[in-house]
Amino acid sequence: KYTMVTCTAPVNIAVIKYWGKRDEDLILPVNSSLSVTLHQDQLKTTTTVACCRDFVEDRLWLNGKEEDINQPRLQSCLREIRRLARKRRSDKDSTVDVSGLSYKVHICSNNNFPTAAGLASSAAGYACLVYTLARLFGVEGELSCVARQGSGSACRSMYGGFVQWKMGEREDGKDSLADQVEPETHWPELRVLVLVVSAERKPVGSTSGMQTSVETSSLLKYRADSVVPGRMDEMTSAIRRKDFAAFAELTMKDSNQFHATCLDTYPPIFYLNDVSRRVINLVHRYNRHYGETRVAYTFDAGPNAVIYTLQDHVSEFVQVVCHFFPMESNRGKFLQGLPVASTT
Ligand code: DP6
Repeated sequence: KYTMVTCTAPVNIAVIKYWGKRDEDLILPVNSSLSVTLHQDQLKTTTTVACCRDFVEDRLWLNGKEEDINQPRLQSCLREIRRLARKRRSDKDSTVDVSGLSYKVHICSNNNFPTAAGLASSAAGYACLVYTLARLFGVEGELSCVARQGSGSACRSMYGGFVQWKMGEREDGKDSLADQVEPETHWPELRVLVLVVSAERKPVGSTSGMQTSVETSSLLKYRADSVVPGRMDEMTSAIRRKDFAAFAELTMKDSNQFHATCLDTYPPIFYLNDVSRRVINLVHRYNRHYGETRVAYTFDAGPNAVIYTLQDHVSEFVQVVCHFFPMESNRGKFLQGLPVASTT
């Protein structure tokens, strides 16, 4: 007899970036961050977890391929959820069905977008894993703390809408949690476009990249201590007011400072490429043309541009992108997959 649960979790795109850890094992950040969670039906991970008394070991399949289950972060999440489930059993006793608590699990997880292309696949992946395991084992309550231990940015995908990850101060990380700033219904006109510049695996992963940045970049320290705290407040206020120009400018500046921190890392880390830089210039020229900030870009640990804009400007901006990056001449050169994945 199987028990099986399937859930989906969406990608989130940070507008104030998380970069750098103060604790590598617990995944505690050097600064708070803020992101927008995309809608469930677009860029997402779908995870099925089955448990059965006949399973002899925990196993994991990612996008159809079996992977090593003994990855430390995966093990942390499994261990934490099982611990919470056991705790719940001892708290509530007979009300929870925990017959399968000691059973092994088979986990099957699929992304509907390129993995490791700097599109926050680990965020959706770990958020989904933790949520699905929790459902299977009947664990409720605050779970961002568990998702965080899979991948830092994953804690923000546990909520929809506009989400902040408060860095916290405690050494045990109990106050390093995500919470919702505004729900997904708050700003219905806001749109996200993902310009897929490359679907290839990134050369320097975020985990090792931010480790080197913490060790070598003085800009990172300055950013964490003196820039991000103010920006978190300004960004929260811009979102509450639905002030697109303020939201957009902060988003672009924060992306730029994150990439400057990568450049300040020694040896330097380059995530942006020529196409990314052309997109940056295009956005600034577009905004200048209208004399107002209508479009913003942001880049994570990869060359793909994520564009924030408002509903009214989507179709025109997509046309402009298609004009300057025509599919014909670029196909196979730098556009792999869809050039513009529009998400509402
Ligand atoms: C650039 O969450 O992937 O996307 O905690 O080591 O798993 P780990 O790193 P990860 O880093 C994401 C970095 C970023 C910025 C962000 O999403 O805030």
